[in-house]
Amino acid sequence: MSVHKEVKRVTTAVLQEMKARGEKISMLTAYDFTLAKIVDEAGMDIILVGDSASNVMAGHETTLPITLDQMIYHASSVIRAIKRSLVVVDLPFGSYQGDSKEALRSSIRIMKESEAHSVKLEGGKEVIESVNRILSAGIPVMGHLGLTPQSIYKFGTYTVRAKEEEEAQRLIEDAHLLEEAGVFALILEKVPAALAERVAKELTIPVIGIGAGGGVDGQVLVMHDMLGITQEFSPRFLRRYHNLYEEMLGAFNSYIDDVKSGDFPNEKEQY
Ligand code: KIV
Repeated sequence: MSVHKEVKRVTTAVLQEMKARGEKISMLTAYDFTLAKIVDEAGMDIILVGDSASNVMAGHETTLPITLDQMIYHASSVIRAIKRSLVVVDLPFGSYQGDSKEALRSSIRIMKESEAHSVKLEGGKEVIESVNRILSAGIPVMGHLGLTPQSIYKFGTYTVRAKEEEEAQRLIEDAHLLEEAGVFALILEKVPAALAERVAKELTIPVIGIGAGGGVDGQVLVMHDMLGITQEFSPRFLRRYHNLYEEMLGAFNSYIDDVKSGDFPNEKEQY
């Protein structure tokens, strides 16, 4: 029997046990009550209230504009829907970099005001003081290395990271640093599969990939991308499980036609 099927509530300890047993971890983003409820009922191990809300919910080009208040709003909507999944909330850009006391204050706000279970932040050595301070308050932290979208203006593009030896080496060192600090899991985004597999083998904590191949301990995707609601974003790593954009467009068109023709509402659809 898999750990996944046995547990009533996914905790950081459960994830650790999954890694130890070689059981893959499923993770997906959610930003609102209604869809989070379906994701939780489906049996997702981790729900990420990602700062990708800045893109898919608010329509911004990058993840940078979303605020701490907005993240807390999304996180508390998700939390109200959850019975089983572990909920991780992204610390937004500007709420933790460069000032570890600010990082702790931001994390405490997320935990208190949304009642989420953990936070995630991007970066390695440069944010380790913040990681340590948040952990010292008993708040579980997830790391995020590789393509870190909050640094997009430093990178310049969303292409694969750590292809060169020097950057790969730095990523490996950062991964170890984060594990030693005590993060409970690590996201690797858009890095070569061989590098991600090596990191997953070297670390004892779960390593969850997005565009990082199959040699890691779990996978994460953005819900709107895997459902095919977003159309313009189609990187190689994305598997679309539906074409909801087309289906929804069809439904909206039919509704418009029915309203215009007077077909809706019919006799049974009125009082
Ligand atoms: O914000 C987000 O959705 C993320 C995932 C891409 C890992 O950080």
